[in-house]
Amino acid sequence: MASEFGAMALSRSERERANGHRSAVFWLTGLSGAGKTTVASGAEQLLYTMGYQVCVLDGDHLRKGLNADLGFDDADRHESMRRAGHMAEAFANTGMIVLVALISPFDRGRQYARQAVSADFYEVYVATTLDLCEARDPKGLYRKARAGEIHGFTGISSPYEVPVAPDTSIDTRGRTPSQSIDEFVQYVRSKVELGRLPRYISANNARGVGRRDAIEQ
Ligand SMILES: Nc1ncnc2c1ncn2[C@@H]1O[C@H](COP(=O)(O)OP(=O)(O)O)[C@@H](O)[C@H]1O
Ligand SMILES: [Mg+2]
Repeated sequence: MASEFGAMALSRSERERANGHRSAVFWLTGLSGAGKTTVASGAEQLLYTMGYQVCVLDGDHLRKGLNADLGFDDADRHESMRRAGHMAEAFANTGMIVLVALISPFDRGRQYARQAVSADFYEVYVATTLDLCEARDPKGLYRKARAGEIHGFTGISSPYEVPVAPDTSIDTRGRTPSQSIDEFVQYVRSKVELGRLPRYISANNARGVGRRDAIEQ
């Protein structure tokens, strides 16, 4: 199929057929400490084991490279969402299930990302309370923000716009990480079904059954 650049390109649907599942972008948004990274990386491991083509774009990792030139004011936060949106689009076009874990505090930026992605796009609100995130404080950032050592910290000195109509919410309150990961994996799988899954998935859809084991059966 000819791409807009004139060359012959593999289409997304060809890759989806080969992979045995749809490609899609799942955009995890929520406060720092809500559980985006925990849920996305846990789900990546499980889905990969089940034979899905999956990757994670994590805000913290992007900040070390592609977004290293950006700060935390509103314009730079929007730019970080814009770039992540276009990266997600590129990966989704290679047939991947893309799990984006990014605070993405502004509705406008999330809407921009949805429009940048031509594959299915799901906004996933990783829900908690600010109090719980502060109590967790996995990276000690809330303590620093309260001490005035970090300026423009989401939830403390910079706004977080709670999604008005997310496609789904993963509430990480009163649940273990493993429960939240399972809940999210179930949601992802329900959205990427092609109808008929490859043999190694359909024969082994129980959690934890490895692709290699399945193929060797
Ligand atoms: N149900 C849950 N789901 C995800 N994380 C949880 C859950 N319960 C407790 N946590 C803890 O909350 C913290 C979330 O941190 P992290 O995933 O880095 O958040 P974020 O990426 O949203 O900033 C981790 O320390 C994790 O162990
Ligand atoms: Mg994170």
